[in-house]
Formats: sequence, C-alpha cells, structure tokens
Amino acid sequence: MNESSPSGCCCQREVAPSGGTRRCFFVQAGALFFGGVAALVPAAVGVIAFLNPLRQKGQAGGFIKAGPLAAVPEDGTPRRFALIADRIDAWNRFANEPIGAVYLRRLPAGQLQALQAICPHAGCSINYEGAAQGGKFFCPCHGASFDLAGQRTDSTSPSPRDMDALEVEIRNGGEVWVKFQNFRTGTSKKVAQA
Ligand code: FES
Repeated sequence: MNESSPSGCCCQREVAPSGGTRRCFFVQAGALFFGGVAALVPAAVGVIAFLNPLRQKGQAGGFIKAGPLAAVPEDGTPRRFALIADRIDAWNRFANEPIGAVYLRRLPAGQLQALQAICPHAGCSINYEGAAQGGKFFCPCHGASFDLAGQRTDSTSPSPRDMDALEVEIRNGGEVWVKFQNFRTGTSKKVAQA
C-alpha cells in the first residue's frame, strides 16, 4: 500500500520510479537552492559593506568641511573646530556624527594650518591655552605641550612626535575643508590609521 508518511514528505516513501520520485527530486533540489541562497545573503552583505567606499571614506581620510574661513581668527590665534560627518560601520550609517576635531590657524603668509586635536602620545584631546597662559597647546593627560606650529616645546616631552598636521584647502570662496585622518599614537612615526 502506498501511504504517506506522518510528515507528509514523499521522500520517505518507497515508490517505484514515477511522478512521486520526481516530486521528491524537486523538493530536495528546492531545499538545497533556498538553503544556499539563505547562507549566501549574509556573506554578500558583509563583502559589500567591507568594500563600500563611503565606509572607507569616513575612516580613512576624506576631505571634510571644518567651517567658514571667516571663523578662523585673523590674529593667528588657533581655533578648535569639531568635524561632523556621516559615520559608517559594517552595518549602520550614523548621520552627522562628531568624528574628531582640528585646530585651524591663519599663517602670516595668508595660508592656513590644520592640526589634529588628538595627542600623539596616548590619544587624549589637546587643549589650546590662550595668550594669558603662554599661547600654546597643552595635553592634560601627561603634560605634553606644543608651540603654535604644533612642535614639542621640550626634549623630555612624553609625546613621541609633534602634533599631526592635516591637509587643508579653502573651497567655494570661503569654506575650510580638512583632509581628516587619525594616526597611530605612541610612535615617533606618523602612521595613518585605516
Ligand atoms: S596623552 Fe597627551 S601627553 Fe599623554
């Protein structure tokens, strides 16, 4: 007698070559196909996220608008600007997130200087101390100090290198754009972080 199994699957029946075995083949082939697709989707999403140029731009040094040129003091005093950009990781996009900070300063020749606000020693945030306190950059964590050009002010500085300079451009007749980049801390060489 040709009875269905309790599960109703035709593959569990012993039948002669017929329409039943053909259905069995298609059921198994379909299960294999959809199982394969289900396994490939997460892998494909991961590869696409890894290769996404926007994701790389957010973390590896694209130009970001820092602010208006008019906001940079004309007397050569550095001013700190927060950098805002979309931050993208493997799975999510976070719009308008603070991703770092930069000090901008007008140079005598009419050019601009941009310095990373992260201390090269261990990654603390560097402060600018105004003219009343000597007009220098100072890291509160371990006491490294830097002059207005971002150079260490003493040979015993805990910082292994000077402050990290960034590329800077003036665009659209008055916008300051900075090529933002983080660098490895604790090393005398300026090594960009991915
Ligand atoms: S982190 Fe700046 S001096 Fe140590």
